Amino acid sequence: MDPILDRCSIRQFKDQKLTEEEIQALLRAGFSAPSARNLQPWVFVVIEDPAKIQALRDFSPYAGPLETAPLAILICADQNHNPSLDYCQQDCAAATENILIQAKAMGLGSCWLGGYPNLDRIEKIRDLIDLPSSLMPLWVLAIGHPGEEGSIKNKWNDKKIIRL
Ligand SMILES: Cc1cc2nc3c(=O)[nH]c(=O)nc-3n(C[C@H](O)[C@H](O)[C@H](O)COP(=O)(O)O)c2cc1C
Repeated sequence: MDPILDRCSIRQFKDQKLTEEEIQALLRAGFSAPSARNLQPWVFVVIEDPAKIQALRDFSPYAGPLETAPLAILICADQNHNPSLDYCQQDCAAATENILIQAKAMGLGSCWLGGYPNLDRIEKIRDLIDLPSSLMPLWVLAIGHPGEEGSIKNKWNDKKIIRL
């Protein structure tokens, strides 16, 4: 199993909580990401409370994976660390992909649930989770033990390679 090549989105999860060690390993992977000027402009909001996860399910019509997920991680951009939201997003996307790959390496499943730049979704997240104005909630990760196989896609595309 190659955690990069074999990762795919998982949208159904088993009713099984993650251990604290597993959560810490996911966060460590996120913190290890590269960031512009090493400013590390991310904050990870770890949500294990089932009621809070269910409330968050309605932040987006496409957040169905939260219905069974035992863990949600809200990825926030910390504009006190880098006022440029464009750079924050790039850095937070790198941290996010690290978390998704770490999840796969640990036998867990995950799905990235889009938020920013949809302002309606951002507002819904802000209504549910009390965040300082310097933190921009970007997107949510649903994570847990896979309750479905998922489909690994072959995305190789010769047409998207330019060789000089
Ligand atoms: C920025 C972004 C937003 C996404 N938003 C959602 C979402 O709201 N709901 C969902 O079920 N999947 C979402 N996904 C997962 C994509 O649908 C998925 O990555 C894509 O179909 C490729 O499939 P794979 O992850 O299995 O390779 C999102 C992925 C990205 C990168």
